[in-house]
Amino acid sequence: MTLSSELTLPCGARIPNRLAKAAMTEGLAEPGGIAGERIVRAYTAWAQGGAGLILTGNMMVDRRYRERPANVVVEGEQSANALKGLERFAAAAKSGGAVALAQISHAGRQSPRSVAPEPVGPSAVAVKLPGGLYAKPRALTAGEIAGIIGRFAHTARTLVEAGFDGVQIHAAHGYLISEFLNPRVNRREDEWGGSLENRARLLVETVRAVRAAIGADRVLAVKLNSSDFQKGGFSFEDCLQVVDLLDAEGIDLLEISGGSYEQPRMMGLDGLEPVLEENVRASTRAREAYFMGYAAQVIARAKTPVMVTGGFRTRAAMEAAVEEGVAVIGIGRPLCVDPDAPKKLLASEIEALDAFETRLRVGPGIFGPHSRLAVMKAVNGLATMAFFYRNIIRMAEGKPTLREMNLLGTLIAHQRQEAQDAKRI
Ligand SMILES: Cc1cc2nc3c(=O)[nH]c(=O)nc-3n(C[C@H](O)[C@H](O)[C@H](O)COP(=O)(O)O)c2cc1C
Repeated sequence: MTLSSELTLPCGARIPNRLAKAAMTEGLAEPGGIAGERIVRAYTAWAQGGAGLILTGNMMVDRRYRERPANVVVEGEQSANALKGLERFAAAAKSGGAVALAQISHAGRQSPRSVAPEPVGPSAVAVKLPGGLYAKPRALTAGEIAGIIGRFAHTARTLVEAGFDGVQIHAAHGYLISEFLNPRVNRREDEWGGSLENRARLLVETVRAVRAAIGADRVLAVKLNSSDFQKGGFSFEDCLQVVDLLDAEGIDLLEISGGSYEQPRMMGLDGLEPVLEENVRASTRAREAYFMGYAAQVIARAKTPVMVTGGFRTRAAMEAAVEEGVAVIGIGRPLCVDPDAPKKLLASEIEALDAFETRLRVGPGIFGPHSRLAVMKAVNGLATMAFFYRNIIRMAEGKPTLREMNLLGTLIAHQRQEAQDAKRI
């Protein structure tokens, strides 16, 4: 097996190679959450880049609970204009021969205050981050939970009808489904909380409803945390049990990631509270890819093909992962700057991708990804994200991407843009 080998998923879809453009929220929607010209331009660039699988960023099933003001939203009856936008979006993502999946999501309590003055979650447990960006959520009622499952199914059906090859249910990174899985956040005492079976019910029921909505021959993928990396959170032991549940449902692709806004391990970063060390095995620390240690155990157990995302930068590490049984390698940040990187890796033109995140700094000295001052570390983390967001917007506007930016200026410009989008959309 090599990076260039084709992969046939259980549903029959054929992915031309083992590299994927990972899901990255675009913040490019037009008012109303509609996919417009800019999103089409960005995905045309990624499609020409050679990845065999393309995942969209979060597309929201409920406009009230977006994770960013300018997310694409797919809910209810689509206007002719919105539908046309989705069709053009899907066509752009598929224009290079890749399989294109729409990532569908509900942000839960991680919906910013500018979008959701009162977000929702399994229980009224607030996101623990300074700055007041996230308001305290209220607990969903059982009736509302049933409604959310219906929304996921409706959104999925709309997206495959618009031309996407399938969907990925976002059950990772601390968004709603991940919140239900997490016992620190899910304090419910009804059938949706408590035992792992109950905490996983929202995910399992959503998988069933989405499968019924899209049919057996479309791709149904799930993005799942290996762990939340927090004391009392969703553990790797929990993850393995959820893997069994998903295996029994018959999904097509399981993507392994980890962390949440409070503990951003998906980016290789630590949050404000200490990372739960017993959950970060030596094998994970030692490897370039953040979650390979976990993924190897998932692969040993699951019949579902496994995708792993987070930290892959060298062709050697990607090839080794495929040798170990990883079906698809997800790549995120490097593709914000060089959308053609997959093509270059597959043609052996390059050996490694630029690891921007390891060298981007707001300023010298105390600022940096490993600063011991929590606030500096947080500012650096946010500014580094703004660097990637701005580059996606540049791609969408047909401008060349930038390898260097004034990070503090970029962070301020990004925050201003988000505030404008919150008013505009
Ligand atoms: C700008 C940006 C936006 C992201 N948005 C999403 C998203 O919408 N959904 C998601 O599942 N992950 C999202 N992620 C996480 C990536 O999918 C991926 O897990 C992470 O970047 C680690 O992969 P990498 O080391 O190759 O960048 C985002 C990451 C970045 C950098």
